[in-house]
Amino acid sequence: MPGLLNFATIDVPLAALLDEQLDEVGLILERQLASDHSAVNALCRHIEEYRGKQLRPLLVLLCGLATARSPRESALTEKHRVVAAVVELIHLATLVHDDVLDEARIRRQVPTLNNLRGNETAVMLGDYLISNAFHLCSTLVDPAINLALGEVTNTLCEGELLQLHHRDDHDVDEQTYFEIVRSKTASLIGECCRLGARVSGAPEPVGDSLHRFGIGLGIAFQIQDDLLDMTGDEAVVGKSLGRDLDCGKVTLPLIRYLGAADQAERRIALREFSRRSAARLRDILVQSGAVEQAHRHATGLVEEAKAQLRELHRGPARDLLEALADAVISREF
Ligand code: FPP
Ligand code: MG
Repeated sequence: MPGLLNFATIDVPLAALLDEQLDEVGLILERQLASDHSAVNALCRHIEEYRGKQLRPLLVLLCGLATARSPRESALTEKHRVVAAVVELIHLATLVHDDVLDEARIRRQVPTLNNLRGNETAVMLGDYLISNAFHLCSTLVDPAINLALGEVTNTLCEGELLQLHHRDDHDVDEQTYFEIVRSKTASLIGECCRLGARVSGAPEPVGDSLHRFGIGLGIAFQIQDDLLDMTGDEAVVGKSLGRDLDCGKVTLPLIRYLGAADQAERRIALREFSRRSAARLRDILVQSGAVEQAHRHATGLVEEAKAQLRELHRGPARDLLEALADAVISREF
């Protein structure tokens, strides 16, 4: 099973089931992206390298399992797996476009598509992936799922547009930061959880609790992502770091620091921000405790998110959802 979780701590039959299910999701993706044109296939093969943590498909499957009434082995259907493939395609499309916006050179330890082939190809491949996502989704002939995911992709784009609007805006407030993060990252993660439950036929309030779980998890995920961008090790994280500062994105530690700083401290921090002095700004934010404070905030969100799982029946799927939530903020990549 991919990335985030420590194998030793996972219920063995569940790990084997998820492994098998994720393999099948991979095959659905492969079939969906198979083109008559070898040039297109080569680009899609490169994007395969971006598939790392598989957090989103995993959440669809786990929420499907955690809310199913049938026994574990028969609880997951082809519909769960297709939804899992669709959300992974949406996610991959956003990564390809995001790397263009951020001028990122490396992702998942390999060169980004914009780095290898330029922005035009990367933009078009992102379009191809999003188009395939909705094409695959339509094969389910379930308009409610298309509608839910269409709303999510609208929201993702709004989040990115809001972020661009606040580029270099050091007066951006915490509420706006959270609105951006909720939109660009948490909206898809929340919907993965809700859709897993919906496909299992769970009552709507259960799906809504899981949606809240995913939203909290998603916001915490992005806070940790922003912290890694500032303090992480590029060899471990496997992607270009420092992009937030280079692109003028103001993230939680700086917002917290500026909120508490006196005039002199503020002047120095803003000077380093405008000079894009990554190391100096990072030192200020680490030494002041602002980085630690942001991490504590993410931890609080994860605890609140886990509380949303209380109504699910106890079992390995619920335990794994809790473990995933913890892993989102302890991860170093
Ligand atoms: C990661 O931000 C970015 C996202 C989670 C969303 C990106 C969304 C778009 C670019 C809109 C495109 C929409 C569609 C429907 C194709 P980040 O730069 O903080 O994360 P990173 O560190 O992984 O680069
Ligand atoms: Mg980025």
